[in-house]
Amino acid sequence: MKSFIIVSLITVVLVLIALGSGAYNMAATEKHWAITEQMISWVRESSIKARAEELEVPALDNADIIAKGFKQYHAMCTECHLAPGKQPTELAIGLYPQAPLFYERAPVTDADDKLYLSKKYFWVIKNGIKMTAMPAWGSTHSDEAMWATVAFLHKLHGMTAEQYAAFGGEPHREDDHTHDHHH
Ligand code: HEC
Repeated sequence: MKSFIIVSLITVVLVLIALGSGAYNMAATEKHWAITEQMISWVRESSIKARAEELEVPALDNADIIAKGFKQYHAMCTECHLAPGKQPTELAIGLYPQAPLFYERAPVTDADDKLYLSKKYFWVIKNGIKMTAMPAWGSTHSDEAMWATVAFLHKLHGMTAEQYAAFGGEPHREDDHTHDHHH
């Protein structure tokens, strides 16, 4: 028992010395091990689930709400999450972890899955994700504006460039900053 404690303490000290000497590479270009990536993903999904489950989802299947959500998305999210028909931006290419491409996801049809996805998307948009580039938009936007964004994200699943353009998404206007903030 005593020798186990001594070996453990020596290991901790050696690890601290290694970390302090700069052995760990913090570069975004240095990918995690597969096992670390799985751990992070598991912790993230469990953490979001524990916090998002209690949310009350308002009615989202409404053309006005979806159109409003499009404006939010188009103005604030495409630099990282891109859009159908949009070339990858330099910012998006350099991200680690990468921002997911919603338009490459299959539309969710199961009612329970859809309800949970709405909660999850809302929670992430509002609170952001630590140690990634995903910002917390809740500091500057109303819940109503963020739920509208969630409504649009559902539509964005599987969307084509033509459908995105029909929302007003083409050409991409860099000066488009017409989305809502807190009043
Ligand atoms: C500066 C880059 C950046 C911007 C801008 C950004 N995001 Fe993200 N977002 C990310 C990254 C990176 C991740 C992945 C984080 C991870 O892997 O844990 C992410 C993750 C997400 C997720 C979780 C997706 C999932 O299913 O795992 C949602 C939802 C999301 N973003 C929505 C948005 C919305 C909506 C906007 C615009 C209001 C936005 N993001 C703007 C970088 C960004």
